[in-house]
Amino acid sequence: MIIGFVQTKGGTGKSTLTVSAAFSKAMDRRFSSIAIVELDPQGTLKNWWQEREEMERANGHVSFHHISSTQKEVFQQGIEAIAGHNELMVMDIPGEGTGKLHTRFACAFSDLVIIPMRMSTNDESAFMENLYPIIRDIIRAVPEKRGCFRVLPVFVHPLANHQRCYDYFDDILPPHVSCLRAVYPGRSIYENFNRMGLNLNEYAVMVENNQKLTRQVEKAVNDVEALSQTIINSWEGLYGQEER
Ligand SMILES: Nc1ncnc2c1ncn2[C@@H]1O[C@H](COP(=O)(O)OP(=O)(O)O)[C@@H](O)[C@H]1O
Ligand SMILES: [Mg+2]
Repeated sequence: MIIGFVQTKGGTGKSTLTVSAAFSKAMDRRFSSIAIVELDPQGTLKNWWQEREEMERANGHVSFHHISSTQKEVFQQGIEAIAGHNELMVMDIPGEGTGKLHTRFACAFSDLVIIPMRMSTNDESAFMENLYPIIRDIIRAVPEKRGCFRVLPVFVHPLANHQRCYDYFDDILPPHVSCLRAVYPGRSIYENFNRMGLNLNEYAVMVENNQKLTRQVEKAVNDVEALSQTIINSWEGLYGQEER
């Protein structure tokens, strides 16, 4: 399976979500090999992964790959090579201005496109202007991809009623884009856990003597497990359990 975290707007949590989902227990149980694929020319995750290697952190069956080419053939070959060796690929796509080549490729190649979006009219109009036209083109060309596009409400207040978030997006989203039944809450812990190449679970171990931080990181781990499981369920709903 190929999951792409796609949003032309930057700063919506794509990179954080990519690594958190890739290292979640839910994904670990379901997939025997997981590849994080960064398409960002800036290499945010590349630096983070390098730190992991320097600190000799255990990656289990998670691997890291960086593709920066904007040539379709090179991109396609890279994706196919990685997909051939991994049951799951999680792609982190950069926020993009003009052209949006990575966004187009990622939308075309992903089995499930997760679109992290805030509940704001600003994000809604940016989506309609920039990302939705790409989605519409793909669906026009490949109608089977109709069910693949899911919005994930992000930076949601931790105490917010989730059903209200779903209702909000059900109301505003255009045809063929639906709201995932999970949210990604805003928590300060997400801004801090990934220093020194840490993932969320390693950070939890590091702060286990600090009760306050431990309580916060437990909540974040619960968020990530719930949303990762929802993503797996959505994919199984789309493609059936046996196909991988
Ligand atoms: N759930 C969250 N709550 C609060 N801050 C977050 C959350 N997820 C990510 N962040 C922070 O928001 C900023 C953007 O996140 P990032 O994952 O880099 O987004 P993107 O890859 O979409 O640009 C970063 O500073 C990150 O630490
Ligand atoms: Mg990013």
